[in-house]
Amino acid sequence: MRQLLIACVALFVTTGPAHAEQPLDIVIYGATGEVGSHVVQEALDRGHRVTAVSRRPEQVELRHANLSVVKGDLLDQESITQIVTGQDVVIVSVRGVIGDSGAPQSALQFMAAERVVDALFRLGDHAPRLLHVGGSGSLEVEPGVLFAEKLPKIVLPKGLEVEILGQILALEFFRKVDDVKWTYVTPPKKFTNGPRTGVYRIGGGRALEDHRGRTRVSRADFAVALVDEAEQAKHVRKQFSVAY
Ligand SMILES: NC(=O)c1ccc[n+]([C@@H]2O[C@H](COP(=O)([O-])OP(=O)(O)OC[C@H]3O[C@@H](n4cnc5c(N)ncnc54)[C@H](OP(=O)(O)O)[C@@H]3O)[C@@H](O)[C@H]2O)c1
Repeated sequence: MRQLLIACVALFVTTGPAHAEQPLDIVIYGATGEVGSHVVQEALDRGHRVTAVSRRPEQVELRHANLSVVKGDLLDQESITQIVTGQDVVIVSVRGVIGDSGAPQSALQFMAAERVVDALFRLGDHAPRLLHVGGSGSLEVEPGVLFAEKLPKIVLPKGLEVEILGQILALEFFRKVDDVKWTYVTPPKKFTNGPRTGVYRIGGGRALEDHRGRTRVSRADFAVALVDEAEQAKHVRKQFSVAY
């Protein structure tokens, strides 16, 4: 069992942002968000060319020679195609619930997965890769049991429950997609505001616990893992999880 665990978990240690040999063109949906803003900074620090997308681009105060800010909405299918064309990687790190149906299909994370995949499919061989920031509810905490099934539903805000189920649905959707290069990058149960250490572990679909049984990572280190995947494409058409 121990050997199996060691085989499934890899430890990554980086010393600090290093300039990529080959700068990438990276689009980030959710660039104004808690996770996405770290991804923008990490990608810029490594010398990539970043397009930050926001419904209200004036919200983005950061200025950088390699940063473009564009107006875009994932509910506008045509704009997705325009924004992602010619890019190397699209990172989607958004959240929200559309309407009040209460159905997991109304989670923006699921709608984004369907819409971005559709746009990428249409671009064929020239399509960028997609890195989707997923949800920890999709992680297995025991064999055959998802973290989402262990959450106390009574205390969960309804919108959050929709998003958690929407993220699970998004993963189920991705697993059927074999003509677009997607990766479902799963956060641990807890994001922290801790510093960038450049150290994290990756696993598959199981929640990774640290020596104290905690499942967590800082947003800054999660961004390191995302940009590493953007550069290295090690998990095409796979889910992987990130934690300390
Ligand atoms: N433990 C966990 O599993 C866990 C915990 C937290 C978050 N997450 C996941 O991490 C991801 C990012 O979460 P976050 O906390 O960073 O979110 P956040 O801070 O609330 O930011 C949400 C982002 O979504 C964007 N957005 C909303 N509606 C949009 C639309 N129609 N079109 C385009 N963009 C839209 C917003 O951009 P504008 O307002 O600028 O347009 C904003 O940047 C989500 O997928 C979330 O499910 C997972």
